Amino acid sequence: MFSDTLRQRLLVFSIGLIAMTTSYIASADTIDDKVDALLAKMTLPEKIGQMNQYNGFWDVTGPAPSEGDAEKKFSHLTQGLVGSVLNVSGVEQVRELQKLVVEESRLGIPLMFGLDVIHGHKTLSPIPLAEAASWDLQAIEKSARVAAIESSARGINWTFAPMVDISRDARWGRVMEGAGEDTYLGQKVGVARVKGFQGEDLSKPDTIAATAKHLAGYGFSEAGRDYNLVDVGNYTLYNVILPPFKSAVDAGVKTVMNSFNTLNGVPATASKLLQRDILKTQWGFDGFIISDWASTKEMIYHGYSEDLKHAAEQAVKAGSDMDMESYAYVNHLQELVQEGKVKESHIDDAVRRILKVKFELGLFDDPYRYVDDARETEQVYNAAHSQAALDMAKRSIVMLKNEQNLLPLSKEQKKIAVIGPLAEDKNSPLGSWRIGSDDNTAVSLLEGLANYTHDISYQKGADFILGEQSFIKELVVNESDTSGFPDAVALAKESDVVIMMLGEHGFHSGEARSRTKLDFPGVQQELLEAVYAVNKNIVLLVQTGRPLVLDWAEKHIPSILVTWQLGSQSGNAIAKVLFGDYNPSGKLPMSFPRSVGQVPLYYNVMQTGRPVTEGTVFWSHYIDERNDALFPFGHGLSYSHFTYSNLRIDDSNKKAIKVTVDVTNDSAMDGEEVVQLYIRDRVASLTRPIKELKGFEKISLKAAETESVQFTLTDDELGFYQLDGNFVVENGDFDVMVGTSSMSGIAGEFRL
Ligand code: NOJ
Repeated sequence: MFSDTLRQRLLVFSIGLIAMTTSYIASADTIDDKVDALLAKMTLPEKIGQMNQYNGFWDVTGPAPSEGDAEKKFSHLTQGLVGSVLNVSGVEQVRELQKLVVEESRLGIPLMFGLDVIHGHKTLSPIPLAEAASWDLQAIEKSARVAAIESSARGINWTFAPMVDISRDARWGRVMEGAGEDTYLGQKVGVARVKGFQGEDLSKPDTIAATAKHLAGYGFSEAGRDYNLVDVGNYTLYNVILPPFKSAVDAGVKTVMNSFNTLNGVPATASKLLQRDILKTQWGFDGFIISDWASTKEMIYHGYSEDLKHAAEQAVKAGSDMDMESYAYVNHLQELVQEGKVKESHIDDAVRRILKVKFELGLFDDPYRYVDDARETEQVYNAAHSQAALDMAKRSIVMLKNEQNLLPLSKEQKKIAVIGPLAEDKNSPLGSWRIGSDDNTAVSLLEGLANYTHDISYQKGADFILGEQSFIKELVVNESDTSGFPDAVALAKESDVVIMMLGEHGFHSGEARSRTKLDFPGVQQELLEAVYAVNKNIVLLVQTGRPLVLDWAEKHIPSILVTWQLGSQSGNAIAKVLFGDYNPSGKLPMSFPRSVGQVPLYYNVMQTGRPVTEGTVFWSHYIDERNDALFPFGHGLSYSHFTYSNLRIDDSNKKAIKVTVDVTNDSAMDGEEVVQLYIRDRVASLTRPIKELKGFEKISLKAAETESVQFTLTDDELGFYQLDGNFVVENGDFDVMVGTSSMSGIAGEFRL
């Protein structure tokens, strides 16, 4: 990572210097006392230094500001002018930097090492949207736990995850990084991830600080175009966008990242409302806020700040504690304090928060806590991690359709054709956030299938991506070359079953990957139709980082599974499902539209004043498409079949309304079902959605088994936020619906 010159200087500086980290804090009792004792020793530049985060000397997730030269950053490290670095990982490199700072800077305050450990580090789990599709909170927590174990073994002590942005717009490429369209599911998944990363005790060497991001509204970028403005009313802000952040804070998340976007005209980085008022004051968040990459500097381009100094002033006053790669604080805060434009108490507050997290991580007890060569060797690509990734991956697959019981395939199935360029791809299933991992390390579909049967023939059909595949380059897709079609069609013709894997490359979704079309890129749809013309027995595997429009496939293809980007174990997980070794149990965390024109599309809509569906032109609809999703939120099939009966509601205690339902597996195969509960507040002081998820439970049922599932509805589930941000619970009539998706279930009612 370091240039030769830097490396030599690192070595020179680290010789013979003694760590000073604990001498000034030994006598203090609590972490707060220790923080105060340390703060009292710090000069203003040293305090500001803690609020400065640098990238590890090369540009990974955004354009590097021009003043970001390595020499200058290096000297800032030794002067104690850096609180944290990102994108430095691996024991050797982390140790080098930590040693430099601890031994060379005056106070030796250890660095935090941050990285986007989004769905694993070396071993990759499915992308977060896929994990959310499992609705399996235990598995999701475990996946984050494994990511923490593996990344902490490589020196990382801070991840910029979970992203808890709710989004209803599949055009936005970052839907892959969140938990989908629903606030309630998003809250639960976010909390599971925070718990997994942070564990029970943050000072343990295998736990890392988590980040709830991006505060706030980033998932509502206008027209789904990344980095675009966000313009939402208070209703949506308080009821849809903010609750997952609040839940993460309640679960003890240590840091929060603000966002690139403006929210109602104010850049989030400068939003006092979001940061100081709501997060820190109302919610009592005692961790710190990190800016997004250069988001402080970008306020100049938003037309909100005159220059970088002005941006620094606005951001710090609003409560943004640490500056990622804008060079705003390190270059301008001291002057701003001296000029009386920024109060030193604001600086002290930010530094206290940052130091507190460093103490909680145990970095002052041992700055090298996360730096252990043996642990790194043992944990990276550890077999247990692969096992966990496989388990998570199989749970994340969603079966959308399975006519004529084409699936599961018999293990004796002969003459299987596999078609589609993604089937052999070992890179794309890793998704776009594989920053710490190694390219081409996923188990491909073909490799996974080979563990089950050798009676498989493969034809790619067409090339997919032409040229380089990289996080920092646009993909070039084959839009015209169909020369491989005849071979694929010939193979399909002579086969009994065709497995086709089509969809998006891993780099089609993620940051800066917005799309206006939600189809299969390139010539893939044409390939599907050409194959279908000769063999209708197709199992379609949709690899994707976002909902796609599958209208043609839904009409023609008997079996469709969404296989997302499933990470390192992709092919193995899919093979397990195809051959019935795992009975699919995933449910969509986002609605799949019929047409891009429906987007943003989500199930928990408001009733309009014109809901009528028959006999008139003048109702809320499209003249060329239905209103509802092709595959709705919560939808997902199993090889088993479940029926719901006997809904009981006990509303005698209005603070704990009990809703009970019997769920029966009336099939011959053991399976898992996600039992979903939705409510509707019929009349309220603000209009309420036609239904909202307020409970779910994933259960396992043996063949022919019945289980009673009980939900408890409290004020938390029944209330909502008013436009001033106050939470209220209003009396009145409620509908309740319990079922297998947002569009099917049995209904009851109660009165509050
Ligand atoms: C920009 C992204 O928006 C953010 O989510 C990420 O954590 C940072 N880059 C750091 O890589």
